[in-house]
Amino acid sequence: MHLFYVLLGQIFLQFVYGHDTYRAAVVEYAPKLTASTPEARVMDNVHKYVEFIEEAATKKRVDIILFAENGLTGMDIDTEHIDDMSTEVPDPTLFLSPCSSPSNYSEALVVLSCTAQMHKLYVVVNLIERFVHNSSQKFYYNTNIVFDRRGVVISRFRKINLFFEDYITPGNDIATFKSDFGVTFGMFICNDILFKYPSLEILADNRITDILYSVAWFSEIPFLGALSVQHGYAITNGVNLLASGHARPSFYNGGSGIYLANGSVANVYISGTPISKMLIADVHKGHRRSSPGSCQSAVSLSNNHKDVTRDISGFNTIKENMVNYTFKSLDITQSEIFESLCSTKDSCCSINITSKRTNFDLNYVYKLAVFKGGRYIATDTIGSRSCGLIACLNHDNDSCGKRNSNRLSGIIFEKIVLKGTFQNIRDGQDRPATLNYNLEPIGDYTFCKKEINKDAVEIILSITKPQTDLLTFGIFGRDFNSDNKGTGVFE
Ligand SMILES: *[C@@H]1O[C@H](CO)[C@@H](O)[C@H](O)[C@H]1NC(C)=O
Ligand SMILES: *[C@@H]1O[C@H](CO)[C@@H](O)[C@H](O)[C@H]1NC(C)=O
Ligand SMILES: *[C@@H]1O[C@H](CO)[C@@H](O)[C@H](O)[C@H]1NC(C)=O
Ligand SMILES: *[C@@H]1O[C@H](CO)[C@@H](O)[C@H](O)[C@H]1NC(C)=O
Ligand SMILES: *[C@@H]1O[C@H](CO)[C@@H](O)[C@H](O)[C@H]1NC(C)=O
Ligand SMILES: *[C@@H]1O[C@H](CO)[C@@H](O)[C@H](O)[C@H]1NC(C)=O
Repeated sequence: MHLFYVLLGQIFLQFVYGHDTYRAAVVEYAPKLTASTPEARVMDNVHKYVEFIEEAATKKRVDIILFAENGLTGMDIDTEHIDDMSTEVPDPTLFLSPCSSPSNYSEALVVLSCTAQMHKLYVVVNLIERFVHNSSQKFYYNTNIVFDRRGVVISRFRKINLFFEDYITPGNDIATFKSDFGVTFGMFICNDILFKYPSLEILADNRITDILYSVAWFSEIPFLGALSVQHGYAITNGVNLLASGHARPSFYNGGSGIYLANGSVANVYISGTPISKMLIADVHKGHRRSSPGSCQSAVSLSNNHKDVTRDISGFNTIKENMVNYTFKSLDITQSEIFESLCSTKDSCCSINITSKRTNFDLNYVYKLAVFKGGRYIATDTIGSRSCGLIACLNHDNDSCGKRNSNRLSGIIFEKIVLKGTFQNIRDGQDRPATLNYNLEPIGDYTFCKKEINKDAVEIILSITKPQTDLLTFGIFGRDFNSDNKGTGVFE
């Protein structure tokens, strides 16, 4: 009798967990902003979300769908009307379904909950949460909530590292949940990806293999492009990352992707026009990549990367203020070059390039750039160390990180080996930062990290396929111990 139940149990588990992949959808989302009232604006976008959820469920059999940061409200939040744009959210420990008690929750929450229930999939949305404490004190959070297949709110994450959001209270909790397809997810929002808490501390729990990431990123060139930051996190930590971005390209926002734990890019999207688009991929379940310390290969699985017709020139990017970087010019008219450069004695970078000229004019200049120290992120300062091959409009260092409407041309990089030698720090993380002219991460490279001794670590980044229109091929490192220690070069 016992054996029978054990067998039955195994068949059941096989049934539920049998597939070795689950299907994920992320939505690059350009909100509708034309409604005449704040409530109507939120509902316009809720109805758009419902269309995406229906399509994902009925046509694509998606298990989990993720939406962007500020997708329901837009980025220009009128704080006078924040009560009309925000919503109270049930405490996830109570396992309540807004669809089952519609009079207790906002229309937006009820519609989303009922849609998740009707189509039986997980729905993850970002919203402004209103939290009333002791019926008098009101707090607002930038919150992601998860509806399960019954429309029940099972998880809630409140953004911890805010980005100029004065009206928002920072969260102080990690959020995770286990899905019925056997995957345990962690969740965070936008700027959180650059901070140890929560982006690395959440991984202290070994069961977390997949991250849900809602974002409205302000792309900064060379090292902090939206998709380059997303891929850098996934490949360095060996997790699956589902990223859903807010599309507002004239104001630097946009970029979504599905990144696999083995370093591959399943799908990415970024555009110079504000359009919404759903990306879908089958994501491998399983363990987190076990040794994120060693070498890792990136491979691009989608053909997006070679889309030279993509309209990206309408995507405005922020140029990093690089006054505190050290630069070296690279004479790429030579077919083989080797150069090296240090920011401080323990922060050095070298590069070997083999390249070939094409018939087109060489219309950008390339430099090697290195920095170690403190820099601004919104109103905070963070410790960082970066180095890389970067494109500049001309020889002027202040033109590095600028783009113009000309696609980079004139050169094919056949081999690039970039080596960073940095102080060995325990409390930090170095991630690859790569971008092509389309503002996508380059899909094909290897990333190795090796401890030389207790004082030094060596990071090597090498392309595995020829590249033609590189903006950035580099490393962006974080030194968490140097957060809030001011700006400038640190010795
Ligand atoms: C809905 O709100 C009413 C009144 O505040 C309360 O009594 C009830 O318990 C709530 N129900 C649920 C399911 O939250
Ligand atoms: C809120 O209410 C609790 C009891 O319900 C009380 O102990 C606490 O002091 C109150 N907090 C504030 C800020 O009023
Ligand atoms: C990573 O996984 C994907 C999907 O399982 C596979 O297609 C790809 O070849 C893998 N990449 C590497 C580098 O192993
Ligand atoms: C600008 O970059 C060149 C190398 O390309 C370097 O020699 C020079 O010192 C830099 N100037 C400043 C002000 O950083
Ligand atoms: C880079 O070039 C230098 C000088 O030519 C050479 O010593 C070194 O071995 C090269 N490194 C790689 C990884 O190709
Ligand atoms: C550059 O360094 C100086 C201190 O040396 C600092 O005051 C300034 O804020 C830094 N600039 C940036 C953009 O970080």
